Amino acid sequence: MESAETHRAKEERGKRVAMSKVSCIVRMITMIVVMVMVTVTKAASMNYAEALGKSILFFEGQRSGKLPPSQRMKWRKDSALSDGSDIQVNKLSMDLVGGYYDAGDNVKFNFPMAFTTTMLAWSVVEFGDSMGSELKNALDAIRWGTDYFIKATKFPDKVVAVVGDPVKDHNCWERPEDMDTPRTSYYVTQNKPGSEVSAEIAAALAASSIAFRSTDASYSNFLLNRAIQVFDFANKYRGSYNLSVGEGACPFYCDYSGYVDELIWGAAWLYKATETTSYWDFVKANIQSIDNNNFEFGWDCKNAGINVLVSQKIPCGQEVADPTLLINIAKSQADYILGKNPLGMSYMVGYGDKFPEKIHHRGSVVPSLDAHPQHLGCRDGDEYFKSDKTNLNVLIGAVVGGPAEDDSFQDSRLNVAQSEPTTYINAPFVGVLAYFNKPTVTVS
Ligand SMILES: *[C@@H]1O[C@H](CO)[C@@H](O)[C@H](O)[C@H]1NC(C)=O
Repeated sequence: MESAETHRAKEERGKRVAMSKVSCIVRMITMIVVMVMVTVTKAASMNYAEALGKSILFFEGQRSGKLPPSQRMKWRKDSALSDGSDIQVNKLSMDLVGGYYDAGDNVKFNFPMAFTTTMLAWSVVEFGDSMGSELKNALDAIRWGTDYFIKATKFPDKVVAVVGDPVKDHNCWERPEDMDTPRTSYYVTQNKPGSEVSAEIAAALAASSIAFRSTDASYSNFLLNRAIQVFDFANKYRGSYNLSVGEGACPFYCDYSGYVDELIWGAAWLYKATETTSYWDFVKANIQSIDNNNFEFGWDCKNAGINVLVSQKIPCGQEVADPTLLINIAKSQADYILGKNPLGMSYMVGYGDKFPEKIHHRGSVVPSLDAHPQHLGCRDGDEYFKSDKTNLNVLIGAVVGGPAEDDSFQDSRLNVAQSEPTTYINAPFVGVLAYFNKPTVTVS
């Protein structure tokens, strides 16, 4: 077994590599693409409906908190039911139960979690009408995020940024149901601001308010009002959470791209949700500060997403994108993920005949409470981590970091960059799959 230190370093590096995969996936949905020619081989069409359902089911495996009777991923159980108890406000502890575990670990990182929620909401806003019976599950997945963010922003003078000590969590190989590492809460305030985490939460709440508008108007209004409040906080008290929450942010989810992109992104979503001119003025006043040569889009950098979102309202200079070409590229990339690649391997767990079976994910690796009711402590999971056997619990729908540049893939828990799933990889893929699930979509 490698040392915990090396292991943690790998885990962190893995996240950064996964980030580049995300930007790749999201480029499809945003259709801001580098125009590379992709050879599309004719083969049997993918089952997008099945992949869509599974991509959403994955989020049930990442749930933190008290699970509802409707929980379909049965090997997961209640966990982290005291989250928030370390923050006292007016002599009462905060309730931060719920939300999502970030990836193969058991930390709730609110910055990428908010981006995940924004992307799930955007998927529903754009392609909800192509989701069929999965629309309900997609809305449930969004609500699992927004219910938590309502708690994390309950007090106007603080926004919770992380729950769970990331260093201690990464030093254990423990299922979430057994966690005994400190569930430290890290938050930003007026004096210790965090505009990127706050503005991304505002974006998530605003986008979700649109997603819920036609099915739950009062919840939608509540989300929108909270989004307005949180955006004001993010904008008025400016600064990066890098410094404000210290080890809660770096080196795990340091904000590399600054917070202005999140402020513009938050304002763009608030404009879409409210049509209030001041948000649009904010976008116009600040959009020039975005680096036009950087088309990245992921939990950190929002550039491409901002461009696509605002291009729905303004002309895009001289740029004209050919929809058929963009759709073909998006389809080839989606199909690659689902198995149309040199290894004939699906990178979505539980989809197709061949998929990653030794993913880097604590809950999936360590036996479930049903199989092993006794407590398993910090390093009791190591024997399962080191085992040659496939994971005990199948995290259906999880899309992993994926293959290397040369299309090779190592199905190994030690290869964090390739074998770890994350919530922010899956979320944008939901929208892509919904688009291709639409019965009328034909691709030449
Ligand atoms: C956050 O910290 C990282 C790592 O130290 C640094 O590269 C980045 O520039 C910082 N971001 C901001 C917005 O200060």
